[in-house]
Amino acid sequence: MKTILVWDLPLRLFHWLFAASFAGAWLTAESDEWLSLHTFLGYLMLGLIGFRLVWGRVGGRYARFSSFLYGPRAGLDYLRQAMTGRAVRHLGHNPAGSQAVFLLLGLGLLVGLSGVFVQGGEEQHGAAAGMFGYALGKAIKEGHELLASLMLLLVFAHLAGVALESWRHRENLTRALVDGRKVAEDDAQAARPNSFVAVLLLLAVATFSAWWFQYRGSEGGLAFVGKKLPQNALWNEECGSCHQAFHPGLLPARSWQSLMARQSHHFGDDLGLDGAAVTQLLAFAVPNAAEQGATEAAWKINHSVPANATPLRITETPYWIRKHREIAAADWTKPQVKSKANCPACHLDAEAGTYEDAAMRVPG
Ligand code: HEC
Ligand code: HEC
Repeated sequence: MKTILVWDLPLRLFHWLFAASFAGAWLTAESDEWLSLHTFLGYLMLGLIGFRLVWGRVGGRYARFSSFLYGPRAGLDYLRQAMTGRAVRHLGHNPAGSQAVFLLLGLGLLVGLSGVFVQGGEEQHGAAAGMFGYALGKAIKEGHELLASLMLLLVFAHLAGVALESWRHRENLTRALVDGRKVAEDDAQAARPNSFVAVLLLLAVATFSAWWFQYRGSEGGLAFVGKKLPQNALWNEECGSCHQAFHPGLLPARSWQSLMARQSHHFGDDLGLDGAAVTQLLAFAVPNAAEQGATEAAWKINHSVPANATPLRITETPYWIRKHREIAAADWTKPQVKSKANCPACHLDAEAGTYEDAAMRVPG
């Protein structure tokens, strides 16, 4: 008997980074506050899976998929043998462990990709920005959460398998994934990987992390957003002189119609618009109103307004009130803010109308 290298360094790095990214993403899934870290971990996980698919072809002996290609039946047979203590020891992945590896990689891929689609639809952010509307992003989120729960169950099954196997064969499998070494027959072959790749993997992770956090810190991460909302010159001119021009997505169509009908009594001002101008302005506002659900804000504002209500203020819609309830009274009276309707004071993308999470700043 001798001790040889079984789990090569790139494989071990992959394993622990993959485990950490999944655990971290799970823990940061619930709150908007951690959304940026959550999405970072998701992209990291996808990158790691991409690496693993390559390493499964060209990696060390025990990392190659061809060294542990067992069918589900072999996996079940092995499980049965392991329960009764008759299972033979495998130097690399055993048939049950191999099922866990393939399932975890497959689920990880689905969880990661669905996450990119959720982010693209719900936040109009990330690699899939602009590909889906808010409502579809929200629907995909259900699947994303279900897949992630399945993956968590599988992780627990995997941990139970490792514990059982370590106990049955009296060897510390977790330690072998730290130093990579296992006791083997004299004629067993060591892994002999290309360690250069391990260094490349670490460098890629470090570069990606540095870029991500640098980028998130700049311009509120606005460079990575989806398609721009339609703009209209007349709208910006007529409605942007006293306050910023509110994007039509912030109120339902009937609200814009009502505001135009009473434009000569506009919150104490007379807008002095003629009939032609009103028609042109409505031709822009109505097809881009909140009902279209082009952004998360539009979708949520529209769903918060009762069907029989016609709010004339965005700041009186239930969604707006709910979202701004926790802002301190002192923040509203700051000289940089002054009015609730001064959206650009806190939303860097107010002119664009997108109201991204990443673009919110209460001044001071
Ligand atoms: C002459 C100045 C003036 C012009 C031009 C003007 N508004 Fe206003 N608007 C006001 C004032 C004043 C308020 C009230 C602001 C406040 O309460 O802080 C207001 C408020 C609003 C609000 C409600 C904001 C809230 O509290 O949610 C909307 C919506 C609005 N305007 C839409 C428009 C549109 C659409 C146009 C172009 C057709 C327009 N305004 C042009 C002066 C103007
Ligand atoms: C004093 C600063 C301030 C002003 C002014 C302000 N907001 Fe906000 N807004 C915030 C903050 C902070 C949040 C985040 C609240 C949270 O997530 O709990 C927010 C959240 C939102 C959201 C939800 C974004 C999301 O995806 O969670 C929307 C939509 C929004 N604001 C629209 C508006 C509009 C429209 C106006 C102007 C009529 C406005 N806000 C004025 C500070 C402000």
